[in-house]
Amino acid sequence: MYLVTGATGNIGGKVLARLHAAGHKVRALTRDPSRAPLPEGVDVVAADLGDPGTLPAALDGVHKVFLMSLGHDKGTHDAHLVAAAQRAGVAHIVQLSTLGVEEVAEENDTPLGRWHRMAEQALTASGLGWTILRPNGFMTHALGWAPGIRAAAVVRSPIADLPEALVAPEDIADVAVRALTADGHEGKVYALTGPEALTTREQVDVLGEVLGRPLRFEQISLAEHHAAMAARYSPETADGVVKALRAALESGDGFRGRVFPGVPQVLGAPGRTFRDWATEHAHAFG
Ligand SMILES: NC(=O)c1ccc[n+]([C@@H]2O[C@H](COP(=O)([O-])OP(=O)(O)OC[C@H]3O[C@@H](n4cnc5c(N)ncnc54)[C@H](OP(=O)(O)O)[C@@H]3O)[C@@H](O)[C@H]2O)c1
Repeated sequence: MYLVTGATGNIGGKVLARLHAAGHKVRALTRDPSRAPLPEGVDVVAADLGDPGTLPAALDGVHKVFLMSLGHDKGTHDAHLVAAAQRAGVAHIVQLSTLGVEEVAEENDTPLGRWHRMAEQALTASGLGWTILRPNGFMTHALGWAPGIRAAAVVRSPIADLPEALVAPEDIADVAVRALTADGHEGKVYALTGPEALTTREQVDVLGEVLGRPLRFEQISLAEHHAAMAARYSPETADGVVKALRAALESGDGFRGRVFPGVPQVLGAPGRTFRDWATEHAHAFG
């Protein structure tokens, strides 16, 4: 049995759907099964990574886990799951981390990097089998532009000219499933990017071409971006994400623009370009 955390979310949802479609026995972890739109036939368990008492039942009979968690709680939430997995006799955990855990210089370290480093250390010190996925920024961040595009054909972002080798969530999920179901991925760390680096302005141009209408780019301040983040996430998480962005903008943060070989190495084929992703998701921009 595979346990998928974040099963109602972006990456976990795709991992769950792929494992289920391939005929594997799979259990979805969610805090509220009554609200969770999950595929027919998957086992569903109510559990909270912040509440260790809920985890033994979620891990009963589980041999492999896809582990993701969010924001400033990531270190403690992943450590809770890892400790419960040790007691439950789990063999292997594939953990979603982030690029920048190792690649940043010490003086540019951010809370975001520290939360992920804590989470990785809880897993690698556990004695369990592990695989760590370190993706760059997700292409799905462009879905946040959809309301502005629909209303006024405008994209507002605090990042304009920083090259980023963004990665498609579909490719991350494919890598996660391969790492869970095939041999040879234990003890590996995969840095996952797309095959090219584009600035935000370039992404907006590509998206406009795919949608067949010109889009305007407008740079906003980090303060405006922080306000938008704070409306969606905890204050600590919003602060941490904005600090990481500020560090990237101030230092020119080379690692975000670097193409890493993790996706082709695991999948045997190049990952999606931003144009591929935008074409597949054009319907989301109305
Ligand atoms: N976004 C990026 O560009 C980027 C870049 C690099 C790395 N990452 C990594 O990817 C992660 C985000 O992945 P994603 O986009 O798949 O996230 P997402 O879609 O925002 O994930 C939401 C999921 O988190 C679950 N969740 C939230 N709090 C929980 C809790 N206390 N206990 C159990 N489950 C909980 C939710 O489950 P329920 O609501 O059903 O309980 C939901 O399934 C980040 O945290 C970071 O580690 C992101």
